[in-house]
Amino acid sequence: MSILVTGGAGFIGSNFVLDWLARSDETVINLDLLTYAGNLQNLESLEGDNRHVFVRGDIGDQTLVAKLLEEHKPRAVLNFAAESHVDRSILGPGEFIQTNIVGTFNLLESVRAYWSNLGANEKDAFRFLHVSTDEVYGTLEPNDPAFTEDHRYAPNSPYSASKAASDHLVRSYLHTYGLPVLTTNCSNNYGPYHFPEKLIPLVIHNALAGKPLPIYGDGQQVRDWLYVTDHCSAIRRVLESGECGETYNVGGWNEKANLEVVHTLCAILDELKPKADGASYSEQITYVKDRPGHDRRYAIDARKLERELGWTPSETFESGIRKTVEWYLANQDWVANVTSGHYREWVEAQYS
Ligand code: NAD
Ligand code: DAU
Repeated sequence: MSILVTGGAGFIGSNFVLDWLARSDETVINLDLLTYAGNLQNLESLEGDNRHVFVRGDIGDQTLVAKLLEEHKPRAVLNFAAESHVDRSILGPGEFIQTNIVGTFNLLESVRAYWSNLGANEKDAFRFLHVSTDEVYGTLEPNDPAFTEDHRYAPNSPYSASKAASDHLVRSYLHTYGLPVLTTNCSNNYGPYHFPEKLIPLVIHNALAGKPLPIYGDGQQVRDWLYVTDHCSAIRRVLESGECGETYNVGGWNEKANLEVVHTLCAILDELKPKADGASYSEQITYVKDRPGHDRRYAIDARKLERELGWTPSETFESGIRKTVEWYLANQDWVANVTSGHYREWVEAQYS
């Protein structure tokens, strides 16, 4: 038996592959284009492990995907592959449309063709699990209840709009063709292998480099943080027992304002890696121009996943954020590798 994971060299995908193979001997076929966000170093510990088959390629390449499906006959496809950074989608939305919408469409077509030709039992057991985001629901006012699965879609960035479009396509393949699909909509993840363009790893990286810690606008935007391995366990649970056609919100009940998150990171760094001059890293906090169309608040109501599938997160924000800082301090080589070249050009374009 095997599963096909797309985007398994990225932040969440690589954590998922590592976690999966730590718990199971079921082979993972890992299809990843290795864009700037994909990094085989994340999977170094699997070198020589024949339960992991890495293939560099595009989810939109129907010939390649058909070949992989025929060759490995996976019992499930899990779609993590995407362009994932909101700021990049504002500077250049084209790639988001291409991968997140057109790519997902092509992947669905390849999977539909493969699934249609399976025997009755394999057809019933097959699953297509689409990994999506809470950003498809848009933004909340301070006192609004958290997003449930019934919240209307109201995406506000090219990234979230492209993810919303992919969610709709996935849904339509169940209703039109009967393809057994599942969708998860998760809140902000953090943890090891998080690319340092996103708030938490960027702040750790800049703090240690003595650079400004950029806070967009007033820093009072709220995100609902989930440690990445809790996201992975939720996906495994949904794959195992989720009901076809259902969507499941995944979140950690950890709403925090950005400024609070940055102060927490600075306090942990002050303790674990004090600056030579005794100053706090928080002195590097710098307010910068706000993100256009910046969503003010996200919050996930994860009660359906708990009620129906018995999933709850294992990390608190306090335990997860400390582990994360410790991981970055212990893995400065990884950070140095991913922050060379294209990364520098991106930071230049984004913050100049
Ligand atoms: P990421 O940007 O770190 O990784 C994306 C991966 O997809 C990379 O390895 C990249 O090389 C690969 N990829 C990109 N285009 C591809 C293509 N056309 N074909 C094959 N591979 C391609 O993203 P992430 O943060 O790990 O997010 C993974 C998924 O989870 C995405 O679908 C994202 O929308 C969703 N999500 C992310 C978060 C979060 O907080 N990071 C929260 C909820 C949902
Ligand atoms: O909610 C889930 C989403 O979370 C995922 O779908 C996305 O793929 C993921 O990137 C993330 O989106 P955000 O835009 O919330 O994450 P980001 O880390 O970019 O920003 C978190 C918050 O911090 C957001 O309010 C913007 C702010 N921010 C971000 C950066 C990079 C800053 O204030 N300064 C910064 O330099």
